[in-house]
Amino acid sequence: MRSKRLAWAITGSGHYLRESLAILQTLQDVDIYLSRAAAEIIQQYGFQAALEATGHKVYQDKTASSVPVERFYESVYHTLVISPATSNTIAKMAYGFSDSLVTNLFAQAGKTRVHSVVFACDTAPELESEAPRDHMVKVFPRQIDLDNVAKLKHFADTTVVEDMNALQATIMQRLATLHDLHLHDGIQVFDALTE
Ligand SMILES: Cc1cc2nc3c(=O)[nH]c(=O)nc-3n(C[C@H](O)[C@H](O)[C@H](O)COP(=O)(O)O)c2cc1C
Repeated sequence: MRSKRLAWAITGSGHYLRESLAILQTLQDVDIYLSRAAAEIIQQYGFQAALEATGHKVYQDKTASSVPVERFYESVYHTLVISPATSNTIAKMAYGFSDSLVTNLFAQAGKTRVHSVVFACDTAPELESEAPRDHMVKVFPRQIDLDNVAKLKHFADTTVVEDMNALQATIMQRLATLHDLHLHDGIQVFDALTE
């Protein structure tokens, strides 16, 4: 019998990457999954040390079949977080693609009824975004990017959050609910938190 964990996927986005890594540092029982672009972007932004400081195991996108997603069928995870999620990954997820590690995590989470929490980069028609070497740039997400985020909001077992406060609050709420089940619901504990 072992406690379930949280899976956190990072895609190749500079937007709110720093803040996502900061939240990751505060959590326990987490596995991190990187898209191929995320692995590059983390280097470009100089965030490798911050990633390592989280202390979590890191899975990279190295296989065509996304081998690590089998962990969803072994009931390892209670929740999948995808933050930050690029326009590219959001578009693929919104249309049901599963041709990379992160899009596969989302698809397999859906197929095993594990709840996903997604922070999409494209939250508004005009944004300020962090670029490498500590400077900010203006970004104007296209209508199709915003439409894809809106489409994802209709998916079952999926919460799309608008900002880092909502992301943190949603994660805390899920952890508290799972903990409550664990304390109070007797037999349900074993369904919700353990295998
Ligand atoms: C420095 C840098 C920063 C980037 N930041 C973003 C971003 O904030 N949002 C985004 O959608 N794409 C961003 N990209 C582009 C993605 O990395 C690119 O679309 C990549 O193919 C995404 O792959 P993934 O979705 O599999 O991670 C950035 C690229 C670079 C080089």
